[in-house]
Amino acid sequence: MHRLRFSKVKPEGSSPHHPTLSRNIIRIPSEAPGSAGQRGIGKQSIEKSHLQRTSATMLETVPGFAYPLAKPAFYAAVLEQTSALVDPSLPLTSNLANFSALLFHAYRDPPVSREINWLGFYLTKDVLDGVAGVPEAGSPPPKGPPKLILAPFQGRVACTIIPPNKGVCGAAAATASTQLVPDVHLFPGHIACDSNTESELVVPIVVGGRVVGVLDIDCLVKEGFDEEDRVGVDGLVKVLVETAGFK
Ligand code: SME
Repeated sequence: MHRLRFSKVKPEGSSPHHPTLSRNIIRIPSEAPGSAGQRGIGKQSIEKSHLQRTSATMLETVPGFAYPLAKPAFYAAVLEQTSALVDPSLPLTSNLANFSALLFHAYRDPPVSREINWLGFYLTKDVLDGVAGVPEAGSPPPKGPPKLILAPFQGRVACTIIPPNKGVCGAAAATASTQLVPDVHLFPGHIACDSNTESELVVPIVVGGRVVGVLDIDCLVKEGFDEEDRVGVDGLVKVLVETAGFK
């Protein structure tokens, strides 16, 4: 069994806004034959990389963890953690910053150990300025696809501005549809913030029918994401839209 430890239960004297490790709240089923752990997928590259130098994980390693066969269970667990972590009374950027850390390390830390090198948000200026509001009925549609600006993230220094409809992020925002890119070098107009990125998953953030940003996740290997990731991350973004403080 794989257990996740995270909840909003706080020890005496802790900060009211500091989530703490606490009782086990989620379990992921045992490893199935042929899973990544048994096949040794990614092991060599992980050993060579910096990925094992990550800080303490919210995922507790238990023998027999099922991954990637247990991706739906992984995302269900992260979804539960997201609901516990996100606090609608906090500013949007606080919630998105903590969510970035949660998902980035959930991917990278053992036993999952995926080669995710960047994860974070690009938002419209209105949302970053806190002035965006859900458009009233009958208000004119947006003039065109939005320009996106760097927002809370985990990873190396990144491009600060994504022009309208440029790159994978711009495409996700312009089309309001998730972009699952198995090989970024084959994506016309891909913006290479980190030349080591090989694949990418970008999910649009749609509030009140309007795209207000994207969640961008980059991976160091080709075909780093699949349909289960798309479904899982779509679900996480849906929870953020409902609870993180988007206006
Ligand atoms: N690759 C993205 C740009 C953002 S960075 O990857 C962080 C794109 O093509 O839109």
